[in-house]
Amino acid sequence: MSSLSLTSETNVVVVGLGYVGLPLAVALAKKFNVTGFDISEQRISELKDGYDRTEEIDKDRLEDSTLELSSSSENIKDAAVYIVTVPTPVDKDNKPDLTPVRSSCEILGPIIGKDSIVVFESTVYPGVTDEICGPMLAEKSGMICGEDFFLGYSPERINPGDKVHTVDKITKVISGQTPEVVDILEELYSAVTSGGVFRASSIRVAEAAKVIENAQRDINIGFVNEITMIFQKLGISVYDVLEAAGTKWNFLPFTPGLVGGHCIGVDPYYLAERAKQINHDPRIILSGRAINDGMADFVAERICAQLSEGGTILVLGLTFKENCPDLRNTKAVDLINGLKVRGFKVDVHDAAADPVEAKQFFNIDLKPSLNDLPDHSYAAVVGVVSHDSYKDIKACEFERLLEPGGLIADIKAMWSNVEKPKYIRKWQL
Ligand SMILES: NC(=O)c1ccc[n+]([C@@H]2O[C@H](COP(=O)([O-])OP(=O)(O)OC[C@H]3O[C@@H](n4cnc5c(N)ncnc54)[C@H](O)[C@@H]3O)[C@@H](O)[C@H]2O)c1
Repeated sequence: MSSLSLTSETNVVVVGLGYVGLPLAVALAKKFNVTGFDISEQRISELKDGYDRTEEIDKDRLEDSTLELSSSSENIKDAAVYIVTVPTPVDKDNKPDLTPVRSSCEILGPIIGKDSIVVFESTVYPGVTDEICGPMLAEKSGMICGEDFFLGYSPERINPGDKVHTVDKITKVISGQTPEVVDILEELYSAVTSGGVFRASSIRVAEAAKVIENAQRDINIGFVNEITMIFQKLGISVYDVLEAAGTKWNFLPFTPGLVGGHCIGVDPYYLAERAKQINHDPRIILSGRAINDGMADFVAERICAQLSEGGTILVLGLTFKENCPDLRNTKAVDLINGLKVRGFKVDVHDAAADPVEAKQFFNIDLKPSLNDLPDHSYAAVVGVVSHDSYKDIKACEFERLLEPGGLIADIKAMWSNVEKPKYIRKWQL
C-alpha cells in the first residue's frame, strides 16, 4: 500500500453513530476531518439538533464538535479510514445476526477508494472481518482485498453510562491486514486515547479477545447467580458469603444480577456459534448463558413466594443497567413478565429510560414520578436497577408506598443500609 501519513486533513468516516460510534467520532473529530454516517435519518437529524438520545455526548460537546453528520453515502466517498460501529445483535434463536454488518459492507463497497482502510469495531466472532466483510467489500468495490483496500479490526470496550472508562482513556486493541495498516491505526487511535494501543497479532486474535472479555464476564456472573440460587434455598445471604469470601486475595468480586444489554448477554452467543461451526460444543459458555437468562424468572419466583395475596408490585428500573437509558435486551422485562404470569399487576418506574421507547419496545407505560404514586398501594417495591436516584430512597418513602406488611425486594443490594420500617418486610438476594 502507498504510505499514508495522517494529518488533520485526513478523512475518516465512522459508520453507525450509536453508543460506540458517536463518542468515537466526536473524539476523532478533534484530530481529523471526520464524518459520522448513520442509516437512521432520525438519528442524524437529532444529532444535528444537538440531541444524543444515548446520553453519551451532551449538547455543548456536540455543538462544539467539527464532526460532519450524514445519512447519505454520497457524502462519505473516498475516505482514508472507515470505522464500522454498527450493531451485532442475536436473532430470536440467539444466533448472531450479522445483517447490519453485511449492510454496512454493501454501503461501503461501492464508495471506498484505492488504499482505503475499513476497520470494524463491532463485536463479532473470530473470522467475520476476514471471511465475511473482506469478500463482500471486494465484490461490491471490484477491488482486491489486501491489495487495493485493507481491513482492520479494533474492538470497542466502552461501557454504556460509564463516565470513567471513556473512549479517550481505554487501551485500544488494534489489528490489521498488514503491519502498515496497524501502523496507521496505531497513529489514528493513539491520537484519541491516553490509554495506549495494543497491537494484536492478527485480526482474528483481536476479534477473539473482545468476545472472550465479555464471555468471561458472563460466565463469572453466571457462577455467582448459580450460588445465589443455592444460597437462597439454604437461607443464606449471598452478599454475606461474598463479603466473607472476598477477604481472600484472589477471590473475584462479582455480584449477582440480571444480565441484559447489547454486549454481555449477547456476545457469548457469537463465540458459541463459532465453536459450533467447528464442531465444538461450548458447554461452559452456554451454561453461563442459560443460568443468566433464567435469573429473572428465579427472582420473580422468590418474590412471589413471599406475597401470599396477590396485588400490585412496583418495579423500579427497566433499563438493562444503572444510570443509562439503554433498554436493549433488558432482563427487567423478563422479571416483570415473571411477576405478571404469577398473577400480579405491575407498575414500572424508571429514572433513566425514555417513556416513548418503553411503550414502543415493551408496551409498558412508565409511571412518570415516584412522588405521584398512591399511598400504601403496593404489595412489594422491587429494586431492579440501581440508578443513583433509587439509592437515596428513604425508609419513610417505602412505608408510604407499601401496604402494611409489604415487601422491599432489593435485587441490587442498594438498600442494605435502609432501616426496615415497622410492619414492612425486607428481602435481598
Ligand atoms: N454499547 C456498548 O457499550 C458497546 C460496548 C462495546 C462494544 N459494542 C459493540 O459495538 C457495536 C455497536 O454497538 P452500539 O451499542 O453502539 O449500537 P447502537 O445500536 O447504539 O448503534 C448502532 C448505530 O448503527 C446504525 N446502523 C445500523 N446499521 C447501519 C448501517 N448499515 N450503516 C450505518 N449505520 C447503521 C444504527 O442506526 C445505530 O445508530 C456492537 O457490535 C456492539 O456489540 C457496544
